[in-house]
Parts: sequence; structure tokens; C-alpha cells
Amino acid sequence: MLETDRLLLRPWRVTEAAVQRELWTERDPRVPPHRRIDAGGRPTVAELEEAIRAGRSASFGLLAVEREAVGDVIGYCGLTDRGRGFEGEPELAFELLRRTWGRGYATEAAMAVLDWARSAGYGRLWAMVWEWNTASRRVLEKLGFTETEREQVDAVHGTSLVTTKRL
Ligand SMILES: CC(C)(COP(=O)(O)OP(=O)(O)OC[C@H]1O[C@@H](n2cnc3c(N)ncnc32)[C@H](O)[C@@H]1OP(=O)(O)O)[C@@H](O)C(=O)NCCC(=O)NCCS
Repeated sequence: MLETDRLLLRPWRVTEAAVQRELWTERDPRVPPHRRIDAGGRPTVAELEEAIRAGRSASFGLLAVEREAVGDVIGYCGLTDRGRGFEGEPELAFELLRRTWGRGYATEAAMAVLDWARSAGYGRLWAMVWEWNTASRRVLEKLGFTETEREQVDAVHGTSLVTTKRL
């Protein structure tokens, strides 16, 4: 559990599966299909509930972001290990509901995660971001991530930049 001026970062509750589904429905059409609701409406709220119940929502630290003053959950932020070859070092990930964008929440949440990662002994973090994702690139820049020479080119969905930060 992490706390900032405005936010609480803590594990997902089963009752918050609808928030997760809203995040899925809001994703940019350029995001690959496996991260968007499919033609059959999946994942459903029930499937997302089951994933939370089974602990699959937090690979090892994707935390729900709750606004303390309002008491609502607006997305997630945390560390994940997607096994994308970063020498065992975790990736930072964040995603918030559109209606809350532009108020500094992602930066505030991620700063708390960086502090935690530093205190937990991690020396370096990674983050991958689509070249077209201006808002996320700006958040990473504000957090002090820098772009590396590495990138992943997907002919259909575009280029993902690989960024990193020493803690
Ligand atoms: C990326 C995301 C989490 C940012 O959340 P947020 O709470 O709005 O972020 P912040 O308010 O902390 O910072 C956003 C910054 O991007 C800037 N920004 C946002 N949209 C922008 C745009 N289209 N062009 C230029 N800058 C933009 C904002 O002005 C702000 O920078 P500033 O503080 O210098 O003004 C949110 O947009 C989101 O959930 N996107 C979809 C999921 C995603 O992309 N996740 C990251 C995958 S790597």
C-alpha cells in the first residue's frame, strides 16, 4: 500500500472489476487487439472479477489507484514483469480512466512507485511506450525516464520505444 498527497495505491478489490472493464473499453484503437474488448464482449466483468479473485490482476505490483478525497478507483499503476527481456528488472506501467486525465495523477502515482522500487533495492526500471502515445511519453519524461536505442517495431500497431530510469 502506497500513499501520496491525493492517492492511495493498493490491491484491487473484486468489486472494482467494472473499473478495469471501463479501462479496457476506453483503450485507443491503435492498442493491439489482445488488450481490447473482443467482438464477443470479452473480457467480461465476471472474468475480470475472477482474475482479481485469483490474484492475476497484480503481476507483482499493479496496484489500484484510489483517489482518497473521492474514494473512487481511477486506474492502476505499478511494476510488472512481462518477461520482455529486461534482465529481471521490472517495467513500470500505468493507465487511468479518461475522465481523470490531465490532473497529474499518473505522475503522482508513478513517483510513489519509483520511491518504493528504490527502497526495495531495485537499481533500474524500464517502461515501454508506443511512439504515438504523447501523454505517456510526457509522464515518463517527467519521471526521468530516458529513451534507449532499443525499440520494437510492429508493422500494424507502430513502434514501441524502450525507456529506462536508474533509481
Ligand atoms: C498516460 C496516462 C496514464 C497519463 O495520465 P495523466 O494522469 O493524465 O498524466 P499526468 O497528468 O500526470 O501527465 C500527463 C502529461 O502529458 C501531457 N499531455 C497529455 N496529453 C498530451 C498530448 N496529446 N500532447 C502533449 N502532451 C500531452 C500533459 O500536459 C501532462 O504534461 P504536463 O504536466 O507537462 O502538462 C493516461 O493518459 C492514460 O491512461 N493513457 C492510456 C494508457 C497508457 O497510455 N498507459 C501508458 C502505457 S506506456
